[in-house]
Amino acid sequence: MDVIDDKNHGLVSHKGFLLIKGTHDPDAVDMIRNLEIKESDVLVVTYPKSGTIWMQQILLLLEAKGDLTAISKHVKFSNAELVPWIEVQTEAFIKSRSPRMTVSHLPFSLLPSALSQKKGKVIYVARNPKDVLVSYFHFHKVGNMLETPTDFDDFFEKFMRGDVFASSWFEHIKAWYTHKDDINMLFLTYEEMVKDLHSAVERIALFLGSALTDEQLADVVKHATFNNMKKNPQANYERVPGRLLSHHQGTFLRKGTIGDWKNHFTVAQNERFDDTFHREMADIPLDFIWDIKDVA
Ligand code: A3P
Repeated sequence: MDVIDDKNHGLVSHKGFLLIKGTHDPDAVDMIRNLEIKESDVLVVTYPKSGTIWMQQILLLLEAKGDLTAISKHVKFSNAELVPWIEVQTEAFIKSRSPRMTVSHLPFSLLPSALSQKKGKVIYVARNPKDVLVSYFHFHKVGNMLETPTDFDDFFEKFMRGDVFASSWFEHIKAWYTHKDDINMLFLTYEEMVKDLHSAVERIALFLGSALTDEQLADVVKHATFNNMKKNPQANYERVPGRLLSHHQGTFLRKGTIGDWKNHFTVAQNERFDDTFHREMADIPLDFIWDIKDVA
């Protein structure tokens, strides 16, 4: 991975998808399409800020049968050493021991074509896009590989145009959702994980074929809660070098809730967002939870 040591790295369009200059190598990303996929491979796919690091923690805990100490062995900085981003550390994924586990923000068109032969297991986590936008705005101040937005209004416009890393939220989810029956996929939402983490972990365990006792499952849930992950530097990326993350600007685990967009959007922005959402998602039968009150 390239070292990133200053702010305001630009984006580069690759096959219609925006990557981060200096973080992603378009040639390396191209090789991912033809990677061999094993039956046991697990790929978590998300649009940024939809629960990626939450899934890293859950996958590792399921593999370790809830034993937190087992997943901290041999880790220097963060869970990304064990569950890397395939588009950043392709070799690390290729060489990892089975079951190989990876996360990715790539679109359907750039991930291994072998997935369409129902090889490997894909978990797609979707989050309501208003909260994604807000979380992404704050993360742009933390991640040194991303340009710091001038202000919220500036970032709102960029997100709506898809002028951010991973391009348009709408395109990302539409392509993955449309192909969900062509691949071996579990489709989850961030909101259902917030609402009932235990049930979500059970669904993930069932999908992966992980055999855990009730007690082990309860341990997975315990170590994957927002409060426990926030206290865990490996899960919260606190030991990642300051040249990559400006820790004084915030943390990966920020609020971990539903509906923070209400503290950021103006009435006009909300109306515009709703119009775009209804137009873009007209053919996608997905309902999101937009307010924490609706999960009670
Ligand atoms: P907020 O910024 O809204 O708090 P990603 O890992 O894809 O970058 O997503 C980060 C978002 O997921 C952050 O959202 C973070 O707080 C939230 N998150 C991570 N772990 C979580 C957990 N255990 N419970 C709830 N939210 C979590």
